[in-house]
Amino acid sequence: MAHMIKVNGKEHQVDVDDDTPLLWVLRDVLGMTGTKFGCGMALCGACTVHMNGNAVRSCIMPINAVVGSEITTIEAIGETPAGKRIQDAWLAHEVVQCGYCQSGQIMSASALLARNANPSDSDIDGAMAGNICRCGTYVRIREAIKSAAG
Ligand code: FES
Repeated sequence: MAHMIKVNGKEHQVDVDDDTPLLWVLRDVLGMTGTKFGCGMALCGACTVHMNGNAVRSCIMPINAVVGSEITTIEAIGETPAGKRIQDAWLAHEVVQCGYCQSGQIMSASALLARNANPSDSDIDGAMAGNICRCGTYVRIREAIKSAAG
């Protein structure tokens, strides 16, 4: 079935089943492979995108639930003020190790910064708790978020 979705400011018509997860539409239909598959069960955060500015798990978000919403992915987050600050801080603090989870980390961090310009440690912990990093880059993630905020 055809669905009109808006991704990174652009409308796309996609012909997929109603319950197709947004993650697979982004990756397989639209060719936006920056959003990653980790667990497929909303447990790891690798697939995080923004839906109307809020961080959501695209692996469990059916396509028919995003029609009419603004979706932002890692490909365009650097065009938002908070996303640009977060990406710059990620580079300055050399946060990335293997990199696989980092799209999701950046999407969660930029959603936090967009709604809270000066997050406390517990705000950061709360916003980032759902994003798992097997390399253990958590200390650098927190430093980068703090520097982007301050
Ligand atoms: Fe979506 Fe893990 S792939 S939370």
